[in-house]
Formats: sequence, C-alpha cells, structure tokens
Amino acid sequence: MIQVFADRDALSQAAAELFARQAQSAVTAQGRFSVLLAGGETPRRTYELLALEPFRSQIPWPEVHLFWGDERCVPADDPSSNALMAHRAFIDSLLLSPEQLHPIRCDRMPDRAAANYEAELRRFFGAQPPRFDLVFLGLGEDGHTASLLPGSEALQEEIRWTAVTRRANEHFSRITVTSPLINQAALVVFLVAGRSKADVLQSILAATDQQQYPAQLIKPLRGTLYWWVDREAAAVFR
Ligand code: 6PG
Repeated sequence: MIQVFADRDALSQAAAELFARQAQSAVTAQGRFSVLLAGGETPRRTYELLALEPFRSQIPWPEVHLFWGDERCVPADDPSSNALMAHRAFIDSLLLSPEQLHPIRCDRMPDRAAANYEAELRRFFGAQPPRFDLVFLGLGEDGHTASLLPGSEALQEEIRWTAVTRRANEHFSRITVTSPLINQAALVVFLVAGRSKADVLQSILAATDQQQYPAQLIKPLRGTLYWWVDREAAAVFR
C-alpha cells in the first residue's frame, strides 16, 4: 500500500504515530515490542519525534526492544554509524536498559559480527519465528534497502538472517539483515522522501521485472508492507 504525504515532516509524524500505536498493541498482546530500525537520514526526524511529547509518554519504553537493519563497520563515534544516529535522535534521551538495545557490533571481523548478530536475533526470538512487530526501511537511489546492495551475494541469501556487504567506494564493510528475516515481520514500512528517490521509487513500484532492485525482495510472508513516501519522492507517479 502506497501513501503519499505532503512533505517529509508529515511523513515523519505519521511514522512516529505508527510506532507508538504498534508499540501499544504489541506490548498489550505479547508484553514486548520488537523494532528493526532503518539507518540513513530519512528516519532521523521520526526518531527525534519518538522522544518528544506526545509520543514519548504514549510508548511503553521499558518493553521496547530496538534492533538495527544494518550497520556500517565503523567506530561507534563515527558519524556514519546508524546506531549513533539513533542514539543522538532519541535513545540517549530515554532511560532504556542495555538489554533493550541490540546494536550490530562490528568492531571485529565482519563475518564474526554478522554471525554474532544472527545469534543475538536467535536468542531474542528463541524457538519462535523472528517476527518483528515493526520494520522501518529506507530506499537508496540504486534501489538498495538496509545494506542489501545491488549485486551483493546477500540478495541470494535464503537461510541466514544476516550478511556482510560492501560498497566499492567505501572503506568499511556493512552488516545487514537479509530478506528472509525482514519478510517474516508483521509490518514493514518503507520511508522514502525527497526528489532524488522519485525515479527509483517509480521504477520499483511500476516494475514488471521483480528482480531488478534489492528493495523488491521485501515481500512480507505473513505481514503487511507499506510504502510511505513524501510528495517529492512520489513526483513521477502521482
Ligand atoms: C544505510 C541505510 C540505507 C538507507 C538508504 C536511504 O545504512 O545506508 O540503512 O538502507 O536507508 O540508503 O538512506 P537516506 O535515508 O539517507 O536517503
């Protein structure tokens, strides 16, 4: 389902409202709320809103568990760290216990980091399927999502929940969750904003070839998929 919002702020507000609503219903139903956070810039305003009223007091924070869909293998204080962005946007202003935070630790060998993150996911979900209550995803101009990058072997992964990827022009590796994990979620929401995403968004949503972009791998098996975009990103297909 595609929803077009007037601008990035309206998109961020709606995403924060969705987070709060999903958190309340998940905690009521199962006593906890598991979220897979997107990296990049688009979700920053959404995250900032979560720590502000009215959302701050609407969200049952002690039962929230935060995971990341991907991370760059950089020092924790590196500006390109997805975890650092989320900490600065909202986590550091909340009193969350360390047990609620599940960052991808990539200060060691990337393959070991990916294996460790899969082990953490398996510990959290136990014998149950890894059914995240909410997954936020971004969309790159090349059609990637999380760090499922075009041409990476991770796109063919059908079993493992994590993988190592790397951009040719970056000095660091990336750890990403894979589509087999994302597609088990209850609700997956792409947050896409800005004119620079209009062409790739239109290509993906209008695509006849379903294998052209990594983002097209995202098809929740027993869940719901939303494309929430702002007017600039929707410019070519409205
Ligand atoms: C990453 C992100 C990535 C991001 C898109 C969009 O670590 O790079 O997880 O998938 O969501 O690249 O990024 P922007 O929101 O900055 O456009």
